[in-house]
Amino acid sequence: MPAVYASAPGKIILFGEHAVVYGRPAIAAPVTQVQAKAYVLANPSAAPGHVEIDAPAIALHARLDELDEQHPIAYAIRLSQQKLAVDRLPAFKLRISSTIPIAAGLGSGAAISAAVARVVSGFLGRPLPDTEVNDIAFRVDQIYHGTPSGIDNTVITYARPIYFIRGMPVEFLTVYRPLTIVIANSGILSPTGVVVGDVRQRYQADPSAYEPLFDQIAMIAAHAREDIVHGDPENLGALMNQNHHLLQRLNVSCAEVDCLVEEALANGALGAKLCGAGRGGNMIALVDDNAAESVAMALQSAGAVGTIITRIS
Ligand code: PMV
Repeated sequence: MPAVYASAPGKIILFGEHAVVYGRPAIAAPVTQVQAKAYVLANPSAAPGHVEIDAPAIALHARLDELDEQHPIAYAIRLSQQKLAVDRLPAFKLRISSTIPIAAGLGSGAAISAAVARVVSGFLGRPLPDTEVNDIAFRVDQIYHGTPSGIDNTVITYARPIYFIRGMPVEFLTVYRPLTIVIANSGILSPTGVVVGDVRQRYQADPSAYEPLFDQIAMIAAHAREDIVHGDPENLGALMNQNHHLLQRLNVSCAEVDCLVEEALANGALGAKLCGAGRGGNMIALVDDNAAESVAMALQSAGAVGTIITRIS
């Protein structure tokens, strides 16, 4: 039997991270230049239930029954099995690879979950629909993040730009004029759950200090939606800058990310902000097409450990 293969892209949050956890809107887009990939190969010589997992990027080589139930990859496999009501898995080898940087705000965890759900269900002969893949990626994210809004798993599963409000039907955005974005990695690992937990603690201690910040971020995301759909990209850069200042006030930026944001602006970016949970990870800059390479180079000179140029269309 030939190998079964599935993949899922990375993602960026253009507007609204953190506030989205508190019911405000946010905008996210897939980043197809980076991908999580999963392959399954039948292992007919092994006994049923014998599942070997090989994920070199996270130094994992184990049998499924050796992993904790809450291990994200084991959990994604088990949830797929449950949804298909398969009692006993046939023996197979699962190989996972990913070019999405880990703990860097590009959705590596959700992409691995989506790729695993797709490949395992495909191998079992009944590929799960996107709604079910999305649910699996969300439930696995609850282990990573604690209280995910659901934006990461949704944009990654559907691989389309989205306007997202927690608990509401997702809106897929039609982008009027393609946007060119430079993504730069600060190289600082920042687990989402830690930063989201810290914001929650401070929010709970003083909700009245945070609600107005979330409201201002919500207004920015709503305006940005209009500009993306109806075609006023000039204004989007200013909105990005405003969003970044509000994220600084939420105390989720850090000196290294701020430095990359300033460097992008100094080199002609139309706007720039941190991306994802913050305190490290990646930042994004909106640029004119012809400035993308020079902004990316300036960010590398300023210390970015990697850059990606992506187009949202
Ligand atoms: O996974 P990250 O780092 O892109 O963060 C996701 C965005 C947050 O708003 C910070 C958390 C969430 O669940 O929406």
